[in-house]
Amino acid sequence: MSVVYPPNDLASDAVNQFIARSHKLYIDGEWQTPTEEGAITVLDPATGMPIAKVPLAGREDVDRAVKAARTAFEEGPWSRMTPIERSKYIWRLADLIERHAGELAQIESIDAGKIVAVTQIADIPLSAAMMHYMAGWASKVDGETFSFNRPGEYHGYTLREPVGVAALIVPWNFPLVLTCFKLGPALAAGCTVIIKPAEQTPLSALRLADLVSEAGFPNGVINILTGDGPTSGAALASHPGVDKISFTGSTEVGKGILRAASGNLKRVTLELGGKSPMFVFPDADLDKVIPGCSSAIFFNQGQTCTAGSRLYVHRKVYDRVVAGIADGVRSLVPGHGLDPATSLAPVVSESQATRVARYIDLGLSAGAEAVVGGSRLEREGYFIAPTVLANTHGDMAVVREEIFGPVLTAMPFDDDTDLDTLAAIGNDTPFGLAASVWTTNLSTAHKMARRLKAGTVWLNTHNHYEPAAAFGGAKESGWGRECGIHGVHLFTETKTVIAAL
Ligand code: NAI
Ligand code: MG
Repeated sequence: MSVVYPPNDLASDAVNQFIARSHKLYIDGEWQTPTEEGAITVLDPATGMPIAKVPLAGREDVDRAVKAARTAFEEGPWSRMTPIERSKYIWRLADLIERHAGELAQIESIDAGKIVAVTQIADIPLSAAMMHYMAGWASKVDGETFSFNRPGEYHGYTLREPVGVAALIVPWNFPLVLTCFKLGPALAAGCTVIIKPAEQTPLSALRLADLVSEAGFPNGVINILTGDGPTSGAALASHPGVDKISFTGSTEVGKGILRAASGNLKRVTLELGGKSPMFVFPDADLDKVIPGCSSAIFFNQGQTCTAGSRLYVHRKVYDRVVAGIADGVRSLVPGHGLDPATSLAPVVSESQATRVARYIDLGLSAGAEAVVGGSRLEREGYFIAPTVLANTHGDMAVVREEIFGPVLTAMPFDDDTDLDTLAAIGNDTPFGLAASVWTTNLSTAHKMARRLKAGTVWLNTHNHYEPAAAFGGAKESGWGRECGIHGVHLFTETKTVIAAL
């Protein structure tokens, strides 16, 4: 695919050269040409202009990648090497991500429309940390022995074996981070993988393929296919040669993946949507609450599955908190993520910008008041003004549905709302991904943590991710957990061995 797009003047030569490459699919340890002509045009969210073309993997390409992963899994050397050898490969890849951090931070900024200062301190270090952390687990995924409860003399133990070939389907909001959330534990468990980045943001995965190659992974252990959902993603989800799907994305597609996976009863991990509540009690330290709750919703333009999108504040401090959050985002400067003057980044695509703007309109026409923001910016690219909606209530679509954009809905509560009632309000949603509680009262904090139906409850913080901390959702926010040993276990199958002595 030899289309020439103008380089980005703000990016390094290395990054421009990488983006301008003729991109291919990474299968069986080499760059392979796609069978069909299909291509995806990659757009810069800050300008809406095309910057690259990448292949759209078709069924045959998926087939080739699955075969390569299968051979690498069944015939070794990946499956035959010692755990500590596998661990060294994962560690080397983590080191390479760190060594190329500056370049990856720019790629992620251009591709996903993120501010480069943020990708430098958040996306890339978290990706590397996840791989370094998971490298350690590779040599510690063990089974257990057990005692027998029925007569006779027996010996029994379990083995934790890799589940096999895993397909990792990644969304566009944290392309490299969420790739590593899946890749790290899959490799630690001993699986081989096919990674499919989102069609909107395929570039960091392609650069990762270079690093995989440089780290010396055996052929076929890590295959990387750029592609879309309906063709490439769907082919992976229904492929009989895939043993496990790890998916992050929309609840709707997640449910479709479950159906597609039922053909061979693939193991499935789903990390889906959310509508996470934040509770601010009157004793909270407002100097922490205001920036904390602001970043909870506006970090990554609200395109975070755990975004704190519902704010419940005690009436005593409601006006101060809402005004403080609104003031903090009033004078942000929109621009390209690579421009150091930029403090407001775009959302990822035209369709997300349209979706978010439609939700804001829905809220306003249902009677919500925009304390700040309230519309899309009239300029090139996909910019939405950070928006705080007051006068909202639990029946409104903006309070009930995942917007996945920079839109906060705020609601006060009073002294007569006890913790059970407050938690019930928070739990009144099909989602159960995360929540945060802001208070200096330890007892209130932990009581709320127990009452909230969520995969993660943060106390006096929000959107804090940690490789060691199990991460995932209750209810329609998903199935299973990523990170920590929990994430590794979900790439294994337990085998029981019983011997009559
Ligand atoms: P999506 O769920 O369609 O895309 C996520 C990934 O799934 C992409 O790699 C895509 O190619 C793949 N995919 C799509 N359809 C597929 C299929 N039939 N089979 C297999 N793979 C498939 O998300 P989309 O459309 O980009 O965003 C829509 C909404 O989804 C967002 O507004 C947001 O509410 C939610 N979302 C949630 C995310 C999260 O972190 N939980 C991440 C991205 C989106
Ligand atoms: Mg979709």
